[in-house]
Amino acid sequence: MLRHRVLSGIRPGIWNRHLSVLAKSLKYTQHGEPQDVLQLVEDKLSDPKDNQVLVKILAAPINPADINTIQGKYPVKPKFPAVGGNECVAEVICVGDNVKGLEAGQHVIPLASGLGTWTTHAIYKEDQLLAVSKKVGLAEAATSTVNPTTAYRMLRDFVQLSSGDTVIQNGANSAVGQAVHQLCRAWGLNSVGIVRDRPDIAELKQMLQCMGATEILTEAEIRTSDIFKSGKLKKPRLAFNCVGGKSATEVSRHLDNGGVMVTYGGMSREPVTVATGPLIFKDIAFRGFWMTRWSKENYSSAERSKMFKNIFDLMEQGKFVAPNHEMVPLDKFQDAAAAALNFKGFTGKKYIFDMSI
Ligand SMILES: NC(=O)c1ccc[n+]([C@@H]2O[C@H](COP(=O)([O-])OP(=O)(O)OC[C@H]3O[C@@H](n4cnc5c(N)ncnc54)[C@H](OP(=O)(O)O)[C@@H]3O)[C@@H](O)[C@H]2O)c1
Repeated sequence: MLRHRVLSGIRPGIWNRHLSVLAKSLKYTQHGEPQDVLQLVEDKLSDPKDNQVLVKILAAPINPADINTIQGKYPVKPKFPAVGGNECVAEVICVGDNVKGLEAGQHVIPLASGLGTWTTHAIYKEDQLLAVSKKVGLAEAATSTVNPTTAYRMLRDFVQLSSGDTVIQNGANSAVGQAVHQLCRAWGLNSVGIVRDRPDIAELKQMLQCMGATEILTEAEIRTSDIFKSGKLKKPRLAFNCVGGKSATEVSRHLDNGGVMVTYGGMSREPVTVATGPLIFKDIAFRGFWMTRWSKENYSSAERSKMFKNIFDLMEQGKFVAPNHEMVPLDKFQDAAAAALNFKGFTGKKYIFDMSI
């Protein structure tokens, strides 16, 4: 027997007498630019069986990796036809007979990657989902599994940091960057961020400093800044790079002896180049990090549960907010994908599909 609750806000017309539901999904059957290959299609979902869970997706963001996956430029290769998107927050509508830990009405996020989340409804397996408190905001929950976790792991797993230590990063206005600032504030670390110069740089600096950044400098300003030489801040022992090219080289120059730079993205598409002097004389190290790998290797670990608890506790306390974002309806996917592809210059904000109504 199915345990279910009909949710307010779901149009009666989309239910049939067996509780099946029409899902509207952004699907693609070949790689290409998202605006060209994504199509909004309808599928009838059958009732969840055994360990399956039928969910209504409430919100799902567009991340750079989602775009790269559709383009065929990401290591994760979906089977076609594929539904776009990798993270979301959803509400459980009903569960199969063997589901023990979830019930209708709960909010959940995906624990597994590559489930396809740009859809109004989906059937997932119980062990692919994690229940999340409804006190966590929809935008926060929807964007919790990729970027905050990446920031969390990079801050924890490479260098043993103590209160008062400094972390430096480029792409400091990215969603990961915003998560780094907020975790640094929560953990008593100094967070120095490098961003590209832009007409509204003062507003951007103010926004990131409100999130917890200690200093935000442009690429030109960091070259001449004396914040480390003057002793105002301790030299960084840890650096994060999501840009590559000259930006990565410049950031790595500021590392203290024995410091580590972790590369987790390559937004400029330029290779990471290393300055020879700091490499030799300061013995700095260069590492890479991929959250998808870490999550697979630690799928059911106590450390993963602890990480989610810490992040959701901060979100509930209002100490960790979603990245600067705009909610967009699913049928505006062409505009949202083009904007996320950064055609207009600077990234500015994250786009989140809103399927909550
Ligand atoms: N390894 C992992 O596990 C992992 C996890 C999460 C994210 N990532 C990667 O991290 C990166 C950031 O992801 P996100 O979701 O945080 O991104 P996001 O919020 O969309 O922000 C993108 C960032 O990249 C910068 N950027 C874009 N194009 C650039 C260019 N040509 N040169 C220099 N900077 C550029 C943007 O700066 P502007 O404002 O100046 O455009 C912005 O800071 C992506 O590459 C993503 O794939 C990796």
